[in-house]
Amino acid sequence: MAKLPVQREGDEIGTDTAQPAIQPPTSRREFLRSATLFTATVAGLGGGLELLTRRPSGAGAAGSSAAPLGRVKRPLGPYDTSEAVTPYAQATTYNNFYEFGLDKSDPAQNAGSLRTRPWTVRIDGEVRKPQTVDIDTLQSWFPLENRVYRMRCVEGWSMVMPWMGFALAALIRRVEPTGKANYVSFTSLHDPAQMPGQRSEVLQWPYTEGLRLDEALHPLTFMALGLDGRALPNQNGAPLRLVVPWKYGFKGIKSIVQITLTSERPATTWALAAPSEYGFYANVNPAVDHPRWSQATERRIGEFSRRQTLPFNGYAEQVAHLYKGLDLRRNF
Ligand code: MTE
Repeated sequence: MAKLPVQREGDEIGTDTAQPAIQPPTSRREFLRSATLFTATVAGLGGGLELLTRRPSGAGAAGSSAAPLGRVKRPLGPYDTSEAVTPYAQATTYNNFYEFGLDKSDPAQNAGSLRTRPWTVRIDGEVRKPQTVDIDTLQSWFPLENRVYRMRCVEGWSMVMPWMGFALAALIRRVEPTGKANYVSFTSLHDPAQMPGQRSEVLQWPYTEGLRLDEALHPLTFMALGLDGRALPNQNGAPLRLVVPWKYGFKGIKSIVQITLTSERPATTWALAAPSEYGFYANVNPAVDHPRWSQATERRIGEFSRRQTLPFNGYAEQVAHLYKGLDLRRNF
């Protein structure tokens, strides 16, 4: 594993200069840059970093139209937060999607190269009805719901996102889990031709994530196909991504091509990359710091002062029972 770089200002502090002074963490971006160089050296490969940061000529910002959202007009449902929604322009230009680069602005610049039609999703493993389904067919199976969720990134920033999609539980029930299904594993597209970041070994590709089956069946766990009433922009994970609002944002795997029910706990990308820093559970927890920075507060994108981070990102009432008896310090 790569040596940690010297502490310097992290990108999770955002671009505001008027931030209250906090301990500046070493950003994951800096960490990854050092890891990339390390990998490139060990493997004898060159140019990984350049590949990640190079912008293809002529690729404009994908889907970054600007209308601010403010408050959602429709009546709020039982799963919605009433907090002000993050402006669309920010939610679609300040992204993490390492398949398209390490900087927050890279996905909006580079994800135009992702083709989201035709697109199929393979659903298999411990299910009675394994199948490969076209994304438009999959979409037609479920009435689309709106969910306004908080999203807290492990880096210390947060947003409020108006997703459209369907509950993951509906999809899982449709394929009929067997008695051996304990976990759900998710896999993103692996196609370096479309995803320039995958030409570098900055992470193990494809990006994978996982949930326990009971977490996956929780009514808050959501598959997003849209944002703010429009199709999901590529940089936000088109055409299909996972949203688990009580967990750190890295659990929200983008551009999913495979969902596999398993009996054993699946390997997940960030836990493989840095197991002492990113756990399988990744429940938002202000009491358990990241080894290199505090998780007690967060910067809501668009706000100046930092706010307190809430246990389970404010969804404790709905989900804390899932973790009864589990030591959350060890199972971070
Ligand atoms: N999914 C894939 N395939 N690749 C990624 O790099 N980044 C994760 C998650 N899903 C990521 C991913 C991280 S770290 C975060 S915080 C969220 O996506 C960011 O989602 P957003 O860009 O829509 O805000």
